[in-house]
Amino acid sequence: MNPLDHSPDRRGTDSTKWSRYAPDVLPMWVADMDVAVALPIQDALRQRLAHPVFGYAAPDPRLLDVIAARMGARYGWAVKPEDVVLLPGVVPGFNMAVRALVPAGGAIVYHSPAYPPIRQVARHWGLRDAPIPVTADAAALQAALSPGDAFLLCNPHNPTGHAYTAKSLTALAESCLSAGAWIIADEIHCDLLFDGRRHVPIASLAPEIARRTITLMSPGKAFNIAGLKIGFAIIQDAELRARVLGCRLGMVDSVNGLGMAATHAAFTAGGAWLDALIPALAANRDHLLQAVATRLPGVRMVAPEATFLAWLDLREAGLGPDPAGALLERGRIGLNPGPDFGAPGFARLNFGCPLPTLDEGIARIAACLKV
Ligand SMILES: Cc1ncc(COP(=O)(O)O)c(C=O)c1O
Repeated sequence: MNPLDHSPDRRGTDSTKWSRYAPDVLPMWVADMDVAVALPIQDALRQRLAHPVFGYAAPDPRLLDVIAARMGARYGWAVKPEDVVLLPGVVPGFNMAVRALVPAGGAIVYHSPAYPPIRQVARHWGLRDAPIPVTADAAALQAALSPGDAFLLCNPHNPTGHAYTAKSLTALAESCLSAGAWIIADEIHCDLLFDGRRHVPIASLAPEIARRTITLMSPGKAFNIAGLKIGFAIIQDAELRARVLGCRLGMVDSVNGLGMAATHAAFTAGGAWLDALIPALAANRDHLLQAVATRLPGVRMVAPEATFLAWLDLREAGLGPDPAGALLERGRIGLNPGPDFGAPGFARLNFGCPLPTLDEGIARIAACLKV
């Protein structure tokens, strides 16, 4: 069974991805997949819909138990249900955490290129934006941090698809602790590692790291339910948790009941589907890598170790600083522009789609590269 073979037409639905561009454009941009969700999720949503009242929802204690148990089972990370805070998403979560923790004049440090909402955080809260290259080592991180600043880690990394190892995370965490900085860890892509890799939550490395860390996760990416607006924070230090929760500020309110039902089903009965999805995504990644090597002159790509996102280096493709713009105009394909991630000459392609769709996308890019 290949989940990516189940891909209903999304045109004319409420899809952001499929409604942004003209109908002749093939959208391969925003990070959701063109795949039907796992049957247990569909069943759980139907069951919830059978009760026709949708008032404000309270966090379901059974879901908190399931999330805590999942951290133990998948990562050997001892998390208690009370450490888990349900949120409408990961982006509100890291903005809340920054608002709660980083004092005026402080900096937001992160690895660049970066997911656009990470690049926007400092501006939202009047703080100093301090990107460092994704290749920067722990010493460079420490040099960039002052007490009270935040390191906004994105692991696995969007857009490069890099999955940080325990060793590199330990070094990064030690830099943050030595500098007296906070760690805000966006681990939204944690269920999407390839080739037998295991995700390592940075907070799971040691209690003294956990005490300075806010971890953010969500079923949204791996189970393709981003539109249900649900994510969660894990904050193990009670005082830190209270501080972050005090910054909902009228903008981050209660959770989505349908999102909770879907998450419970995903985490209790979605395992087989996810286990089938990972090799299907890895096969798409390999197909794309092969095409880049043989059919896309001037394009380079490092194999992503995780995520369904490919970070394409088009600096030698002759398409200018915004190759996504050129490919949209000439090739009728919608990619994410590299400049939005702080990287002119690059573009991000979403390969979470059926293989024929990916092939069509490759053909459209190839047509623009022919001399
Ligand atoms: C790294 C990263 N963080 C956060 C998000 C979005 O999170 P949410 O929709 O839960 O706010 C995305 C979506 O693409 C992402 O790639």
